[in-house]
Amino acid sequence: MNTPTNNPYITKNQDRFVEELLELLKIPSVSTDKKFKGDILKAAEYLRQKLEAVGVDHAEICQTAGHPIVYAEKIIDPKLPTVLVYGHYDVQPADPYELWETPPFDPQIRGGKIYARGACDDKGQVYMHVKALETMLAEGTLTCNIKMMIEGEEEIGSDHLGDFVRDNKEKLSADVVLISDTDIIDNENPSITVGLRGLSYMEVEVTGPNRDLHSGMYGGAVANPINVLCKMIASLKDDQGRITIPGFYDKVVELTDAQRKEVNRPPYDEEKYKKSLNIKEVAGESGYTTAERIGIRPTLDVNGIWGGYTGEGAKTVLPSKAHAKISMRLVPDQYHKEIDELFIKHIQAIAPDTVTVKVTSHHGGQPAVVPTDSEAIRAASQAFEEAWGKQPFLTREGGSIPIVSLFQKELGLDSVLMGFGLHEDAIHSPNESYGIFNFLKGIETIILFYKYFAKTKQ
Ligand code: BES
Ligand code: ZN
Repeated sequence: MNTPTNNPYITKNQDRFVEELLELLKIPSVSTDKKFKGDILKAAEYLRQKLEAVGVDHAEICQTAGHPIVYAEKIIDPKLPTVLVYGHYDVQPADPYELWETPPFDPQIRGGKIYARGACDDKGQVYMHVKALETMLAEGTLTCNIKMMIEGEEEIGSDHLGDFVRDNKEKLSADVVLISDTDIIDNENPSITVGLRGLSYMEVEVTGPNRDLHSGMYGGAVANPINVLCKMIASLKDDQGRITIPGFYDKVVELTDAQRKEVNRPPYDEEKYKKSLNIKEVAGESGYTTAERIGIRPTLDVNGIWGGYTGEGAKTVLPSKAHAKISMRLVPDQYHKEIDELFIKHIQAIAPDTVTVKVTSHHGGQPAVVPTDSEAIRAASQAFEEAWGKQPFLTREGGSIPIVSLFQKELGLDSVLMGFGLHEDAIHSPNESYGIFNFLKGIETIILFYKYFAKTKQ
């Protein structure tokens, strides 16, 4: 393919870079499912070996109470700035498998894109950093010390990373954190992410009668837990799209008009947006634009709902149980554990006496915003300008990376969220992809970030 970068070393080695990424993508390192535990270890070891091979001082696998962390460092001069790179090698489940055009863990290249689970989120983006380091070491152009921490539990809330960070403050000390696990607007409009939402993830189980019943013999006389659950869920948002859980908005920071203007600055084409999703209308909280609904407002969504008969044909049954997985995306200054509590209390309060309801919380994470006027963000902007020929927009995104707020709290460090994914990469969906252009251009941009960031310390 034509090379998208101006860096001769990347151009010369691009096919190998892609090949190595394909090998990593073949490993089904799904963190949420125990049956992939062996593959989690395999992916970690693959990365450790590749880091060692590019010439880091040392690369190790650090055990945690959960999945291990890959850690590597290259310290060239303690007087130079140190960048802590964070990423994750774990991936979301690939289900539903039948919707993939080619198998999720048998990566294929079509039309300049790599198709595989994790291609963009986050193996492809992590691997850019490994190859950026290789390039700088091979060229002798490394201008910063680099520490890399690649974890295996991001997709399940980074539960054990907090302890690791707290126990290893000295080892992880740095001037800034660099993360590629976000999107750009599109390849014509590069952007840097300066805000992420938090997450609270709940599971609700509604139990009615002690066994599945004949829906004719009992229907109309005994509460149907699926009907009850649907009614409860429907009541969680009002007609304005506002969440009805008491106290939910208490800590939400309202932005000033000037701040809202900033959030709406990046280009947004609603017709194109709707067309890309095949929807007739967008939906959300009244009084807010799509950029605001995603970037600065909290929301609540059912991620999965099940119960009763879902097989082929029809079975007349009044089920004993109904279940739902419900997530809430949070914004500053909501605290996820507090939101968990409010949710549990509210669900219990609205549950009718005809059923019993159990609510449990899964993982969560804190929202984060980073200052937009730091030297690090300036260095990242300069890197984009040089590599992409355009000044990047600053965006607030709706996804979550729990570690960002943890780094602020525990290490006092802000993160530069320099991701290169596209919305069309369909992360967490079937047929996830990552453009080879973005992969290679990303490597080039990362290298330029180091160049400009080093200058901030001179
Ligand atoms: N890469 C995403 C987060 C992301 C995606 C941020 C797009 C901004 C734009 C990350 O891997 C992810 O999916 N995180 C989870 C975290 C959760 C499980 C705590 C998420 O957002 O669902
Ligand atoms: Zn993800």
